Amino acid sequence: MTATISDILLDWYDRNARTLPWRVPPGEPRPDDPAYPYRVWLSEVMLQQTTVAAVKPYFAKFTDIWPTVFDLAKAADEDVMAAWAGLGYYSRARNLVKCARVVAELGGFPETEAELLKLPGLGAYTAAAIASIAFGQRAVVVDANVERVVARLFNIDEPLPSARKTIRVRASAITPDARAGDFAQSMMDLGASICTSKAPRCLLCPLANKCQRRAAGEPERLPVKPPKKAKPERKGRAFWIEREGKVWLVKRSGTGMLGGMRSLPDDGWSAREDGSGEVPLAGEIESLGAVRHTFTHAHLTLDVVAISGDGAPQGEGEWWPVETIEEAGLPTLFAKAALLAVADKG
Ligand code: ADE
Repeated sequence: MTATISDILLDWYDRNARTLPWRVPPGEPRPDDPAYPYRVWLSEVMLQQTTVAAVKPYFAKFTDIWPTVFDLAKAADEDVMAAWAGLGYYSRARNLVKCARVVAELGGFPETEAELLKLPGLGAYTAAAIASIAFGQRAVVVDANVERVVARLFNIDEPLPSARKTIRVRASAITPDARAGDFAQSMMDLGASICTSKAPRCLLCPLANKCQRRAAGEPERLPVKPPKKAKPERKGRAFWIEREGKVWLVKRSGTGMLGGMRSLPDDGWSAREDGSGEVPLAGEIESLGAVRHTFTHAHLTLDVVAISGDGAPQGEGEWWPVETIEEAGLPTLFAKAALLAVADKG
């Protein structure tokens, strides 16, 4: 009998699985410990749009501070937002706390894909990943790695996003009933280490002789992506207001850009196309330079401006000691701005 794709991949995974802090080694039983689904969920949320290398220290920090979902459910929103600072896509952190509270209320994570999908902020990918990895259920897990592997394996040359339907059908057809979690992770590892976007290493691929696109040539051409939209250039200003060794920080409101995060006050660039809001108080203004940052939808040049004098800013905010600014949990953009200000003082 010829080996199936899942047999080959699981066999490859047994020998080549990456060792990851949230992962059970291949073939080992899933721990009967409520912290395990929590760790799977947390890692999967962190890994969205983020590399394994970037996630590892955050995963260690979160599981150290909040070892269980019940601990996380009790955390203050701002502590979770501050711990997430630097990882990006902050709506994930806002949803994380909401989801943890619902799960704690339920007494633990539900075990089926359908029930998991009902949790706040938890989408199709994460529900399938948790159901299969944490609970051993058969679920079809499709992330960007899996999309790439499947598109090449079956030579699906229809462009994304419309190809996703065919990719899902094909992925489902090769997903086994047993070891679905290991199978999902074997696809992710294959996509991350061998079936890479550029220069795939087909000579090392366990599926090479089953791969239709390898036979057809130029596997790196798949999946066909829609043309990238040019990102608009936006401009804004952030204000460094320092008095007696402390700097004025505000909390960004709501669900908008970087919502809920601590930051320097700014001129409202995120609410308008370009910032044109008021300087928050009268005083002597000095430019400290500019920082560049790229978001999913735009490039931003943020001028950093110091305002000196005696004026006190109005509204909600807090005076934060400059010497512990690294502990304020500023998102990367504002951490870069703060670095400019601190460097300026020499
Ligand atoms: N990327 C997203 N989830 C992953 C997982 N469980 N293992 C490896 N890479 C991943």
